[in-house]
Amino acid sequence: MTNADAPFLRACRREQTAFTPVWLMRQAGRYLPEYRALRARYDFLTLCKTPEAAAEVTLQPIERLGVDAAILFADILLVLEPLGVGLEFTRGEGPHIARPVRSADDVARLAPVDVPSSVGFVFETVRRARKALAERVPLIGFAGAPFTLASYLIEGGASREFLLTKRFMRAEPAAWHALMARLAGITVEYLDGQIDAGAQAVQLFDSWVGTLSPSDYREFVLPHSRAVLSRLAPGVPAIHFGTGTAALLELMKEAGGDVLGLDWRVNLGPTWDRLGADVAVQGNLDPAVLLAPVAEIRRAARAILEGAARRPGHIFNLGHGVHQETPVDHVRALVDMVHEMSAR
Ligand code: CP3
Repeated sequence: MTNADAPFLRACRREQTAFTPVWLMRQAGRYLPEYRALRARYDFLTLCKTPEAAAEVTLQPIERLGVDAAILFADILLVLEPLGVGLEFTRGEGPHIARPVRSADDVARLAPVDVPSSVGFVFETVRRARKALAERVPLIGFAGAPFTLASYLIEGGASREFLLTKRFMRAEPAAWHALMARLAGITVEYLDGQIDAGAQAVQLFDSWVGTLSPSDYREFVLPHSRAVLSRLAPGVPAIHFGTGTAALLELMKEAGGDVLGLDWRVNLGPTWDRLGADVAVQGNLDPAVLLAPVAEIRRAARAILEGAARRPGHIFNLGHGVHQETPVDHVRALVDMVHEMSAR
């Protein structure tokens, strides 16, 4: 079972493709009626822990949207639960950590984690999804990057300013680096487990790292993201993604990854010029554009393809995840128009 020549994997390797491959962050999720139907039967964590159902969710968008890759249905926060911090997903409010990490003692008290036994359900989902996909499209695994995981552990949930995280980083630098190193170690095992189970590429989500200055990124984050990206099984492309990262992209490239994820706050063409031809790029339509009429979606998608200018190594994606309010037929129209406009 190999589809090593699939357009998505070729683009990760910066090889020429017959059209620009497309996949979308959060292509499975609440905007899809078939996802909502499954969610009516399982709460979110139970759905993630039920491999048969999670594999079904992974496959839901494939036929319906015509995308060129599947992304595992799971969550970046699942690896935090075995640390014993009390992870919950509350309806409408998102993730909540009952016992957040606020001191060096809290870091020392985190439970040891045996990755294969504590998140083995994710690996089982990967095996099932890969088998069901057969040769159709490659399967992407994923994990949270150490900074984004640490921010949830410290803040206890979503945050705007990340004040507790930034305070901890500076007030307790030794504990910060110890925490980041632990998260990096767990993340390497978590991603390697997904790769062993059949994931053909992985994405490292550093969704909130754009809150940091470049010098703080270099000192407090880069060594740990690099530890993850440099220790992954070779031969499996890694996508390194964050939002609000215009000032950090060179440093993120230095940290590693075969593909850099761009959000919509940068112009793709000049940004790729700046980063150099030795890295592939993924992006970068504003997901909010998908709420606009199809003619507007086409205009915005064309501008991104023009920025990429047929350079090998562009993967079309959104700058962040599909919003819940998005009409499904707009998403399908986007995938089709990118394929059509980019075909050689
Ligand atoms: O289709 C896919 O992209 C795969 C599935 C996926 C989910 N979460 C499912 C999910 C992926 C790749 C993630 C990653 C993730 N999870 C990130 C990084 C990407 C990003 O969005 O920046 C983050 C920060 C999380 C943490 C998380 N999980 C939050 C903040 C939330 C609540 C926000 C929300 O949209 O409700 C979740 C819940 C979550 N993860 C849902 C899904 C489909 C919605 C849960 C539901 O069904 O009620």
